[in-house]
Amino acid sequence: MSKTDNVKGYGNNSINWYPGHMAKAKRMMQDNIKLIDVVVEILDARIPASSKNPDIDELAKGKYRVLLLNKSDMADPEKTAVWKKYYEDKGFFVSIVNSKTGAGVKNTTEIIQKACQEKIEKDRKKGILARPLRAMIAGIPNSGKSTFINSFAGKACVKTGNKPGVTTGKQWIRINKDVELLDTPGILWPKFEDPKTGLHIAFIGSINDDILFPEDMAYELIQILIKDYPQVLNERYGIEIGDGSVSAIEILEMIGKKRGCLKKGAEIDLLKTSKILIEDFRTQKLGKITLEMP
Ligand code: G4P
Repeated sequence: MSKTDNVKGYGNNSINWYPGHMAKAKRMMQDNIKLIDVVVEILDARIPASSKNPDIDELAKGKYRVLLLNKSDMADPEKTAVWKKYYEDKGFFVSIVNSKTGAGVKNTTEIIQKACQEKIEKDRKKGILARPLRAMIAGIPNSGKSTFINSFAGKACVKTGNKPGVTTGKQWIRINKDVELLDTPGILWPKFEDPKTGLHIAFIGSINDDILFPEDMAYELIQILIKDYPQVLNERYGIEIGDGSVSAIEILEMIGKKRGCLKKGAEIDLLKTSKILIEDFRTQKLGKITLEMP
């Protein structure tokens, strides 16, 4: 069993992450999904595979689907374009956004309309007057759901209150004449079937740092850097990997040495070095890095 399997079922930054909460969130999504036309799933563009929960395909059966590659400002733009195409080929409507600055957020209305084109046409043929499309935002913790909703809704957002025939207490945010959002996003828990998924989710801060394994994360990141971003190791840490035969652990040691992360007896403190590397990734000191490719 890999260490990362232990991560399953623990807490994250904002939510106590245990099976009771997972079940409750899933139930809530199941109830809410009945009320909507389209699910807008928010992915972290740095980990477009690991931040996507496959359970939602089952939950959202029969609904139109939009994927937003969020935090695009932190991801590698070339790889983000590859991921966009990958998911489009799978039949999703995909948009690249930065919820923090609002870049690309306004396009969401258009992409929702495109995704729901079939329904719009059907309604038109039946002579049904266009009513706003109803959308639900969903995503794993820390993917940027709240930030996106605030950005999309903006200052003009009006909570439209309960709708006749709709479960009491549901609030809808009227974005514009075409789209309404359910104000509570659906929380999806990441799946840890592949140990790498656990590590990648940890990088984006979906998991409480107390339960992480920084050295495992550092080895994983270094392997990705060696393969896809070797220049970063040189630019940030002054390390030349030459023909690529240096191992991840050797590179971590080199970084530790350069950074003066030493224990008593001049032994390199790998834990401290790993934490520096993780922090450098999270604060974008390594540049725009995408950890996964299709
Ligand atoms: P959630 O509801 O899905 O759990 O995520 P939330 O919106 O709380 O966002 C989690 C963190 O990600 C926040 O940072 C938020 O600012 C950041 N974020 C969301 N979208 C983007 C984006 O497109 N680009 C960038 N660079 N960051 C984004 P935080 O550090 O927790 O809070 P804060 O320091 O921004 O206040």
